[in-house]
Amino acid sequence: MSNSIQAIRGMNDQLPGDLICWQQLEKIAAEVFRLFGYQEIRLPVVEKTELFARSIGQATDIVEKEMYSFQDRNGDQLSLRPEGTAGVVRAMLQHGLLHNAIQRVWYTGPMFRHERPQKGRYRQFHQIGVEAFGMTEAELDVEIISMTCQLWKQLGLTSTVLEINTLGASDSRLAYRSALVEYYQANRNSLDEDSLRRLEKNPLRILDSKNEAVIELNKNAPDILEYLDDESSQHFQHVKELLDNLGIPYVRNPKLVRGLDYYSRTVFEWTTDKLGAQSAICGGGRYDELVEKLGGKKRVPAAGFAIGMERLIELMKIEQLCQPEKRQDFYIVQTPGAARETGLSLAMQIRDAGYSVTANVGDTSFKSQLKKADRCNVRMALIIGENELETSSITVKQLDDGEQFSLSSENFVAEVNKYLTTKE
Ligand code: HAM
Repeated sequence: MSNSIQAIRGMNDQLPGDLICWQQLEKIAAEVFRLFGYQEIRLPVVEKTELFARSIGQATDIVEKEMYSFQDRNGDQLSLRPEGTAGVVRAMLQHGLLHNAIQRVWYTGPMFRHERPQKGRYRQFHQIGVEAFGMTEAELDVEIISMTCQLWKQLGLTSTVLEINTLGASDSRLAYRSALVEYYQANRNSLDEDSLRRLEKNPLRILDSKNEAVIELNKNAPDILEYLDDESSQHFQHVKELLDNLGIPYVRNPKLVRGLDYYSRTVFEWTTDKLGAQSAICGGGRYDELVEKLGGKKRVPAAGFAIGMERLIELMKIEQLCQPEKRQDFYIVQTPGAARETGLSLAMQIRDAGYSVTANVGDTSFKSQLKKADRCNVRMALIIGENELETSSITVKQLDDGEQFSLSSENFVAEVNKYLTTKE
């Protein structure tokens, strides 16, 4: 058996060829966020475990069984972040950024959850998301939803569906929780083991059970709309009206409860039918009570979302939206000796002019250097041999059609520039 060390299950390498699409997504998303007035924030990957327990919730799957937690050498209990919202709120509070201020931030980076790995579900995955603070109005909910719409539009995605729901303010949620417990208690026989466990700790989560019998039972479960306080009800109504005004289609999913406990009022997910079981590419909502829960002196309303980047990129690939890798411009093929020096200084001049170039390293034959150039997906080889050195010229060979011509080495950059601009 080989003794080479492999990556950890559910944690993937991102290889050069794959990263083209990632960079494309990151660039477009950063631009969309800028257009909406959001600023980037970068935060540590490790936080105190308590931060996640207090925000995401003790009784959630994430905190109960999915966190990578450990004690460091000082005996502090720490966790790799399973998501970004808790850290953002912590940072906003720690740096006093929420005093009478509206804040709009975005972030990206790796998150860690010890889930059962499968396609679209990993133990290290990446999110790109936004959080906005200081606004109670439904306009904010719709602002962040429309940001995702804008992003899908810029990427060219067509197969996304917006699902929305409301979880009400905490009082309505408590009333709803009691009604659900009563309903499930009366139908205990239809509940599987997992749902029975949730019944004690987190009954709302039974609503998104994947068990057939529970799905059937959920069809007649009480609806949160019947338990909403007036303000939450009006808020939800307003969100729907604003979405209608903007022409953003949505479906209300009364079973959408999300896997994190900090939400209040609006919650949403973007799903697709193209990714199989892991169909949610983005999730988010309002969390008006979280800042206070994490030690804020007063209530600061907030909302945000996070996109699962692996899933979105898979979808971009399926919809053939990833742009092909940009070809490199030049590869310098040279004989040993003096040609090397000419090659190195030519490469510097070419890069100064904004063209990409690889200079061959090593004493191999012209033939094998040209083969390497071909493998590098290069447009043109620049040949510097004895002949070229004598005549102060560079031979340019188009790798697509083999066409070949000669340019002066002194004015090379200007001449090649002219040639390329007339060609394009
Ligand atoms: P979440 O729904 O847990 O929400 O995650 C957001 C997205 O991350 C999911 O829709 C999914 O695309 C992706 N995702 C989650 N777990 C995995 C995994 N194991 N493998 C691959 N992708 C995954 C949050 O994390 C909230 N912090 C979102 C938010 C921001 N709410 C308010 N602000």
